[in-house]
Amino acid sequence: MRKRAMLTGFILLILFAGSIVRAQTVPAAIKKASVAGTMARKPKISVQGQACLDCHTTSTPAIVQQWKDSRHYKQGIDCYSCHKANPGDPAATDHYGEKIAVIVTPKYCSSCHAKEVDQYENSRHAKAAQFIGSLDNVLGEIVEGAPMVQSGCRQCHGSTVESLGNGKFSSASWPNSGVGRVNPDGSLGSCATCHGRHNFSVAQAREPETCGKCHMGPDHPQLEIYNESMHGVLFKANREKMHLDSKSWIVGKDYSAAPNCVTCHMGGTPDHPESTHDTGTRLSWTLRPAVSIHQPNWENNRAAMQVVCKNCHASGLVDNFYKQYDDSVNLYNSKYGEPATAIMKKLTDAKAISSTPFDAKIKWDYYELWHHEGRQARMGSAMNGPDFTQWHGFYEVAKDFYMNFLPEAEKLLPGVTSDLMKSPDNTWIKGLTPEMIQQQIDYYKKRYNQ
Ligand code: HEC
Ligand code: HEC
Ligand code: HEC
Ligand code: HEC
Ligand code: HEC
Ligand code: HEC
Ligand code: HEC
Ligand code: HEC
Repeated sequence: MRKRAMLTGFILLILFAGSIVRAQTVPAAIKKASVAGTMARKPKISVQGQACLDCHTTSTPAIVQQWKDSRHYKQGIDCYSCHKANPGDPAATDHYGEKIAVIVTPKYCSSCHAKEVDQYENSRHAKAAQFIGSLDNVLGEIVEGAPMVQSGCRQCHGSTVESLGNGKFSSASWPNSGVGRVNPDGSLGSCATCHGRHNFSVAQAREPETCGKCHMGPDHPQLEIYNESMHGVLFKANREKMHLDSKSWIVGKDYSAAPNCVTCHMGGTPDHPESTHDTGTRLSWTLRPAVSIHQPNWENNRAAMQVVCKNCHASGLVDNFYKQYDDSVNLYNSKYGEPATAIMKKLTDAKAISSTPFDAKIKWDYYELWHHEGRQARMGSAMNGPDFTQWHGFYEVAKDFYMNFLPEAEKLLPGVTSDLMKSPDNTWIKGLTPEMIQQQIDYYKKRYNQ
């Protein structure tokens, strides 16, 4: 009996000590939020909202539970607060006596979150569904086949949602949470694409994997690059110190162990504590086209990104990093992107190839050169991923350029590469100097006795 009491006392002591330690390490913002969460009175739910809950607690219990775990629940934002139809929404429907919207568009969120919606609607994310004229679209829609587009491209970019009335939508257009979805009420995007539903958690939106749902793969491997970078390594190693669920999330104040996608592209800094939902405001280059160009306003954008870096690094490192990055983009442009593009134009002008995309081998070679390998090379340099800069990037670019693209161009129009091959960039292919060859022989002899 006494032993039992002592044991209980001991356990209580441990629990008490644990809570002190925790109280010291948890930042004030989180503490305030969780205290408010546990002590809050039961939130006030509207009469209409209660009716939704009465049925949905049995028909869709998990949705109700997710909502109960959210900050919305704590603030009394119920099913009806979001789903109550806006006047004039063409997709509104009658549902057990209430007019509701099944798709809660950014226009609905804007009644309470106007600033975020405004920034979002001005971003490129919001315009991502508008890719009809692109080469990628010809590839998806025509070469590969249209049904792919609804399960592929549009799940990332967004569909144009087609309402069939009665709260139903065409299966070709919904379900869909693409970043640039065109909604029946004319608003753009889907807030659930990063926030999920029905938690709408900021902590989850701040996870690199949330962005990586789209920002991955051969043509934009930002997640893989980040995971390879020292920044990504440190993020994983210091996960609990990142305080992702803190209400305020300012670099250098609420966390400092590592930056993630949101830190650099959206997050607040001590000088500019507001985060932004326009992810394009800190980019100086666009790394997407066959030849990279500067973004409009690129100097301001670059300065804004450097403000973020300089919370953790000194100017010397940041300035030199940007010099390395510019050198890499310029190398890609001048040695590969520009010459390959010029040769494609010469081939088209000479009618050695047609104007139809993807109907000849050289067009696939060229496409992969800039759209896959060339982007990996440039994006690797932008975000500290040396393996993407080199082995997935410039190595593949060089191999494709010298071994596929140039020989194929020569075959189609003899002489088309002659001028290019005289450039100092390419004379190596006629043979290295005897000294350089000897250097190699010596190296392997010394290192592996070969
Ligand atoms: C009388 C019971 C009942 C009430 C009241 C009710 N619902 Fe429903 N709701 C359902 C059922 C049942 C479904 C269909 C579930 C299914 O198809 O699997 C549904 C479906 C839905 C859907 C999805 C529709 C679709 O076609 O995909 C939404 C959104 C929804 N309810 C929201 C609400 C909201 C918001 C309220 C309160 C204003 C509410 N419901 C009130 C029973 C109810
Ligand atoms: C903060 C706003 C918000 C609140 C609160 C909210 N919803 Fe939703 N709901 C959404 C959004 C956004 C969608 C996604 C629709 C889309 O974009 O396709 C959605 C979709 C749905 C769907 C259809 C999609 C599916 O997964 O089948 C149902 C059903 C639904 N909500 C029920 C509810 C119920 C029940 C509640 C209350 C417990 C609730 N919602 C509270 C915003 C909200
Ligand atoms: C009727 C008002 C209202 C509507 C409509 C509404 N919200 Fe909220 N939202 C709130 C309030 C209030 C909070 C809590 C703010 C706080 O705790 O400081 C909140 C908090 C949030 C948060 C922060 C959650 C967190 O974990 O900190 C997100 C994200 C969010 N809302 C997204 C949305 C989205 C997306 C929509 C539309 C689908 C939406 N909200 C619709 C009122 C609303
Ligand atoms: C896994 C998600 C995903 C899929 C699937 C996808 N994309 Fe993309 N796409 C993206 C992302 C992310 C970017 C932006 C990359 C960047 O900024 O580096 C992008 C960029 C683009 C761009 C460049 C836009 C510009 O302004 O330069 C076009 C065009 C495009 N995609 C069209 C398509 C088409 C067409 C398909 C289907 C054949 C497709 N995408 C499939 C995620 C995706
Ligand atoms: C590209 C992903 C993404 C999309 C799409 C997105 N959000 Fe967010 N949102 C975030 C991230 C990340 C944060 C946390 C930012 C931070 O604290 O640094 C956030 C934070 C918020 C917050 C908390 C307050 C704040 O500004 O920090 C609200 C409210 C919010 N979002 C509303 C919305 C609404 C409304 C939409 C739709 C128009 C939306 N979000 C779309 C990623 C996204
Ligand atoms: C559902 C897919 C999806 C998700 C999730 C997503 N993005 Fe994007 N993102 C895109 C697409 C598609 C584009 C290209 C838009 C275009 O130019 O057409 C893009 C473009 C961008 C750009 C370039 C913007 C510009 O103005 O040039 C940045 C930076 C970016 N996203 C960052 C993020 C971050 C950070 C997150 C996570 C918080 C995120 N994205 C989540 C699909 C997504
Ligand atoms: C340490 C800061 C940092 C982190 C972390 C980071 N980025 Fe970046 N990102 C950059 C910089 C710097 C650039 C190049 C900006 C420029 O051109 O000036 C960039 C460029 C981009 C671009 C534009 C590519 C294009 O096609 O032009 C996208 C999209 C992007 N990042 C998405 C992401 C995503 C998604 C993550 C997380 C998986 C991420 N970034 C993590 C700093 C960062
Ligand atoms: C939240 C803090 C934080 C932010 C913000 C941040 N970094 Fe870092 N960065 C680090 C840490 C920590 C390291 C790892 C240093 C080490 O090797 O221990 C690192 C490493 C680096 C390295 C490798 C340095 C080396 O010696 O190899 C470069 C380059 C770099 N960061 C550039 C940037 C740039 C450019 C930005 C802004 C776009 C940025 N960082 C933003 C924390 C940050």
